[in-house]
Amino acid sequence: MSSGARHLYVHLPFCAHRCGYCDFVTVVGRHSQHARYVDALLTELELERNVLAPELETVFLGGGTPTFTEHAELERLLGSLPPATEITVEANPETVTQELARMLRSQGVNRVSLGVQSFRLHLLDVLERVVQPDIVRRAFYHLRDAGFDNISFDLIYGIPGQTASDLDADLADALELGPEHLSCYELEAKPGTRFTHAHGDELERQADAMESYFELVVERLTAAGYRWYETANFCRTSELDLRSRHNLAYWLGRDYLALGVGAVSTFAGRRWRNTPRLAHYLEALGRETTPEREVEPLSHDVRRRERVMLGLRLDEPLVLGELAAVVDESAVSRLELLGLVQSDADGRTLALTPRGRFLGGGVTADLLA
Ligand SMILES: C[S@@+](CC[C@H](N)C(=O)[O-])C[C@H]1O[C@@H](n2cnc3c(N)ncnc32)[C@H](O)[C@@H]1O
Ligand code: SF4
Repeated sequence: MSSGARHLYVHLPFCAHRCGYCDFVTVVGRHSQHARYVDALLTELELERNVLAPELETVFLGGGTPTFTEHAELERLLGSLPPATEITVEANPETVTQELARMLRSQGVNRVSLGVQSFRLHLLDVLERVVQPDIVRRAFYHLRDAGFDNISFDLIYGIPGQTASDLDADLADALELGPEHLSCYELEAKPGTRFTHAHGDELERQADAMESYFELVVERLTAAGYRWYETANFCRTSELDLRSRHNLAYWLGRDYLALGVGAVSTFAGRRWRNTPRLAHYLEALGRETTPEREVEPLSHDVRRRERVMLGLRLDEPLVLGELAAVVDESAVSRLELLGLVQSDADGRTLALTPRGRFLGGGVTADLLA
């Protein structure tokens, strides 16, 4: 039983533009509300202090576009959050100026996750990104110049119109810059988004090609010396462990506190989601009361299943222990024969083989009793 969450997520929902494929909790513009929102976050932090451990391992500011928040407000927020070993901020490249990079650094941020998505102009257009490839490169150099030695890129593949050679070129462009970490996501058609309405059929048609795109991503990045440590995540190998400590905590089923509109926390056998409505969130915290929440009790069984589902996304074998109770032994034997799963001689650990990792969630779902 944990004595407090060692991981803090802070949601900043503001964006310059609502990208058609995105279903995160975001709002466009609203500059006049940024200060009030930061006040609300800090009030929520005070209300939930008792959930946090005295010392934090990670803080992650995600969005939305955290770096679109008025910079003075972002600075005030960063200056008021508890210290942690790893402090990450998500940034959209077009928002990264020399001044912003320096400010983040001076406020103790030591990791930046840059939403690159693609370096191909025609694909950035399809995604409705306002950024040009050279702006991505400029953002990267501003961060390096400010002293950031732990930068991650988000890339998306499976964009309508993207050929295998487009993807290859994106990976080559990313590798040329050499970030410490890369997250590569297959573009998902999120229900109800403008993008799914416009391109849903095309995404369905290309679904079969996606396995080979995924293989191309893994081949290129591992050949360049990156460790494929989680289904969609890669880090440079060095004497330092460059895996995302924050996301690792989530994949390992640790407790975390999440602040902000629409934010989801997991703590002491409960999961709660704050209201996704900005006005309600601001109003409740303006009165120094907890915002409306959906609360889900997490049974021991559900937590164990989640730990298997998430733990098998990692490259290190999952130590089963009490998790063995939710794993179907006959499925393990069957999937072992198919070369999708590996367990050690006395069945204490379980891992997916590279082939199993390509097939991913389907294999894991089969394993659960
Ligand atoms: C919170 S989001 C957005 C961060 C940042 N505002 C940006 O746009 O770069 C984090 C990442 O999720 C990924 N993402 C968002 N929508 C997606 C979708 N429909 N399918 C796959 N990946 C998606 C993108 O790679 C994005 O960088
Ligand atoms: S993809 Fe990023 S910038 Fe675009 S709407 Fe979503 S959070 Fe905002």
